[in-house]
Amino acid sequence: MAPGFDGGSRATGGNAPSYPGKLTPYVIITVLAGAAGGLIFGFDLGISGGVTSMAPFLQKFFPEVYEKEHADTSTNQYCKFDSQKLQLFTSSLYLAALVASFIAAAVTKKFGRRISMMIAGFIFLIGAALTGAAVHIAMLIGGRLLLGVGVGFANQSVPLYLSEMSPYNYRGRFNVCFQLMVTVGILCANVINYFTAKISGGWGWRVSLGLAGVPALIILIASFCLSDTPNSMIQRGKETEAKALLKRIRGVNNVDAEFNDMVAAKNEANLVKNPMQNLLNKRCYRPQLTMTILIPFFQQFTGINVITFYAPVLFKSLGFKDDASLMSAVITGVVNMFATGVSIYGCDRWGRRSLFLEGGVQMFVFQVIIAALIGWKFGVSGNVANIQTWFAALVVGCICVYVAGFAWSWGPLGWLYPSEIFPLEIRSAAQSVTVAVNMVFTFIVGQCFLTMLCAMKYGLFIFFAFFVAVMTVFCYFFMPETKNIPIEEMTQVWRSHWFWKRFMNDPNDPVNMAVGMSRLDDADDRV
Ligand code: BGC
Repeated sequence: MAPGFDGGSRATGGNAPSYPGKLTPYVIITVLAGAAGGLIFGFDLGISGGVTSMAPFLQKFFPEVYEKEHADTSTNQYCKFDSQKLQLFTSSLYLAALVASFIAAAVTKKFGRRISMMIAGFIFLIGAALTGAAVHIAMLIGGRLLLGVGVGFANQSVPLYLSEMSPYNYRGRFNVCFQLMVTVGILCANVINYFTAKISGGWGWRVSLGLAGVPALIILIASFCLSDTPNSMIQRGKETEAKALLKRIRGVNNVDAEFNDMVAAKNEANLVKNPMQNLLNKRCYRPQLTMTILIPFFQQFTGINVITFYAPVLFKSLGFKDDASLMSAVITGVVNMFATGVSIYGCDRWGRRSLFLEGGVQMFVFQVIIAALIGWKFGVSGNVANIQTWFAALVVGCICVYVAGFAWSWGPLGWLYPSEIFPLEIRSAAQSVTVAVNMVFTFIVGQCFLTMLCAMKYGLFIFFAFFVAVMTVFCYFFMPETKNIPIEEMTQVWRSHWFWKRFMNDPNDPVNMAVGMSRLDDADDRV
């Protein structure tokens, strides 16, 4: 048995408690519409790389990068695009998202998950209009900041929305629909860039940036039509509506067990006056706090956004022509999207741990191979006259296998896992920490990649491979399995884990004791 467990039966899914219910068309439509919130994040992640490789865009906003790129053809390939300003264009969005996620936490808790999703769509729409119409750098960055606020609201509320709406035994695959939409957004952005780069008038980049309005409208309209989650309704005192909704989404009349658990969770949540302070200070939340910080940190240190943001720039640095660079970005986008499907299929069947572990090993191996290939051809000088087609195809192939490893593991599970491990009383606050940490490191990677590539050369891939190795070992020892555990029963996972259980029975944490014990008793009654 993996050392992640000490035989706690529910943690391994052996005796998981169950609620009656079936998979209703209503819940499927609701979840798919809600997941559309991932589109705006994905579109954003995918669009900037292509746009920053377009000459008219660079000439208008970053002339010094454009000149550097064209001035000296013999210059070191690793350093061609190194510009703090260019990186700031890409990464400023994530700073705004970080700040917004904390505001979103309060809104999501007080007014419901749906309102946050609406705000996300609305602000993102304004940001899309500003960036598409930008006439100077201030307008461009201002628009990016608004897009970031939209992403902060969406990423804080959508994963929670999906985890709470889903029947517990479908929670994994439904939540992964968020990431699927993220990858659809990235791919659409890659394809759009491929075509807009060909627009001869030099305004293709405006189309790319302005089209962000489409996913914004989709989430805006979807959130007007959706209902809020039963958990959030109960939290806001709407118990009768919540019960009616629960019957509708589960497709059965007998929802008492699940409903009572939700009410109990709400009552316990009400005892907690300052969720953020509790999350940070109480010993009984240490396991969740650790995960909420480490998982998004690790997700970003897989190095995935080197590919997402800068694939076209990276491929250009590897000597590809403009068209081939954008096409290669489309290829990695397609792989990313289809491989996410594997996670949808597998995360509730094989569990989160096996995907985390397999994905980690796969990413590690292929990052090392990519580093070796680039090191072999480009060496430390980064000067290479001619890249043969077979070599280019081999690098793109290896990048695709690495991307696939991410796409069925740390990509979706990096959002799913944190959203399902918190008790209601700290759920909204903790989700904002997950988003904030993710955004900080997305920002850092976005801001530093071009400079790091210039300084570390092919060693950059070894740098990320190191983190992938560390996170895979961490996952093996410290991540308990969460598949098939109802969200309101999650405390048991920590109570039965060989390491985390030491934090769970502190007599000074009466809330935890009450939560844990009463849930376990209830669960025992039902199994
Ligand atoms: C990550 C993003 C990444 C994307 C790639 C998401 O889960 O949070 O940073 O760009 O996956 O598919």
